[in-house]
Amino acid sequence: MAQTCGLSLLLTLLLPALGASTPGVEFRLNSAALSYVSEVGKAPLQRSLQVTVPHFLDRREVLQVNRIQIVKVHVARLRLKFIAGFGVRLLTAANFTFEVVRAKKPLELKMPVALMADMQVFQSAIGTPVVSISSCLSFFDNAVLSDSWDRPLPALMVLLQRHLKAVLRNKLCLSVSNLVQNLNVHLGTLIGLNPVGPESQIRYSVIDIPTVTDDYIAWNISAILFLLGKPIILSSNATLFMWPHPMGDEGVMATVVLSQGLFDASFLLLQKAGSLNLDITSQLKSDDNPLNTSSLGQLIPEVARQFPEPMPVVLKVRLGATPVATLSTNSATLRLQPFVEVLVPTSNSAFQSLFSLDVVVNLSLQLSVSKVKLQGSTSVLGAIQLTVASSNVGFINTDQVHELMGTVFERPLLDHLNALLSMGIPLPTVANLYYVNPQVFIHEGYVVISSELSYQC
Ligand SMILES: *[C@@H]1O[C@H](CO)[C@@H](O)[C@H](O)[C@H]1NC(C)=O
Ligand SMILES: *[C@@H]1O[C@H](CO)[C@@H](O)[C@H](O)[C@H]1NC(C)=O
Ligand SMILES: *[C@@H]1O[C@H](CO)[C@@H](O)[C@H](O)[C@H]1NC(C)=O
Ligand SMILES: *[C@@H]1O[C@H](CO)[C@@H](O)[C@H](O)[C@H]1NC(C)=O
Ligand SMILES: *[C@@H]1O[C@H](CO)[C@@H](O)[C@H](O)[C@H]1NC(C)=O
Repeated sequence: MAQTCGLSLLLTLLLPALGASTPGVEFRLNSAALSYVSEVGKAPLQRSLQVTVPHFLDRREVLQVNRIQIVKVHVARLRLKFIAGFGVRLLTAANFTFEVVRAKKPLELKMPVALMADMQVFQSAIGTPVVSISSCLSFFDNAVLSDSWDRPLPALMVLLQRHLKAVLRNKLCLSVSNLVQNLNVHLGTLIGLNPVGPESQIRYSVIDIPTVTDDYIAWNISAILFLLGKPIILSSNATLFMWPHPMGDEGVMATVVLSQGLFDASFLLLQKAGSLNLDITSQLKSDDNPLNTSSLGQLIPEVARQFPEPMPVVLKVRLGATPVATLSTNSATLRLQPFVEVLVPTSNSAFQSLFSLDVVVNLSLQLSVSKVKLQGSTSVLGAIQLTVASSNVGFINTDQVHELMGTVFERPLLDHLNALLSMGIPLPTVANLYYVNPQVFIHEGYVVISSELSYQC
């Protein structure tokens, strides 16, 4: 388990996202991410280089060797760097310590080894990033004896050297390749369906080979939101998003650009799922909802006439129109147009409709990232706008009901919305990889997340 985790780490660096063509996300890993992978990748690399050394064929029996084993691999340096237009190069220097078990006192040998592997990143048919080694070279120095007092014959040392180099030459690149295969399995978790709500999910997939420069590797990723198994399709031209370049702080590990389309699709999903709808109910003498027929009756005579005894009032808030998120420099706003029906519960557990309102609420939208989720919170911007849509209680003076309705309506709506938005939407990632110290920047038509990453298994 730990081994798998460690392995995947190596290449997790190489790939975080997936995509389709609508709506878009760009995921960029900067050089700092490679430095991080170099740091955390040492231990798994060290483990994978600990290969078994086959028996030494000592025909002349001069060495009297029983067995040779690697007792330690010390990866002194691991460096990963981007090769523009190509992929990633891995350079590593390690010291291998061998124990040669023989009839006499065991020999301890140290051999410095260097490895260089070039890797390219493609995408699989199912939209996962796939790392493939295009070349791997190993370089060996002569093995030296750790203690000099018990020297074997020089001829035997030559035989040992030849054997060890032949074994490592065959096995080390294979070990790196196995590491990369594990990484690819890990990268495959990118396309997993992640829950957005009870009946909705998001799936990311990569849609193209990444762009590699000397400073970063970047993927176009498609995000598809599903409601009850069906994809949410935007009617707008979200795919025509023009990616901003350059963007974000290149000193951090990851830069993620979220297009307007992702926000549009998310709110369309919430609206279609009915998650934004709410009922604001009340009891008499309630502080939560002070709305009742006697307070309304003071403003609307017909209500007082129909309900001489005070009755509680229920508000059914329905979002028929999709909320519109607007991204502009340093600010995000959300425009909601709920339809509010004002009802009185009647004795036979039915409702009597008093009137209905078309409401427009502008909200400011604050965005934040926690672990792997983009979360939002809102507050009301300006005044809530109300117009009477229909009335069963005669003329209604909008100005008069405005204040009363506003207070009753605003807090529950905000609480409801904030509870929904705080559940958040998963960002592109792979298993065990989290966003750390993220910063969110809002631009005209897109959002940039600049973040460190942390691999935790
Ligand atoms: C390997 O070990 C030798 C002897 O301990 C040391 O001099 C050398 O610097 C080491 N090389 C690496 C790459 O760690
Ligand atoms: C994403 O796709 C757009 C349009 O095809 C392209 O211009 C851009 O270079 C791509 N970005 C990356 C990181 O590949
Ligand atoms: C989408 O783009 C096409 C071509 O640019 C344009 O004709 C159409 O009106 C656009 N549709 C929307 C919904 O913006
Ligand atoms: C009706 O609402 C008003 C405030 O809007 C409150 O003062 C009054 O106590 C309520 N009446 C009943 C019977 O709950
Ligand atoms: C909401 O914002 C829009 C666009 O900025 C503006 O035209 C409208 O007057 C605002 N409505 C309210 C109720 O604040």
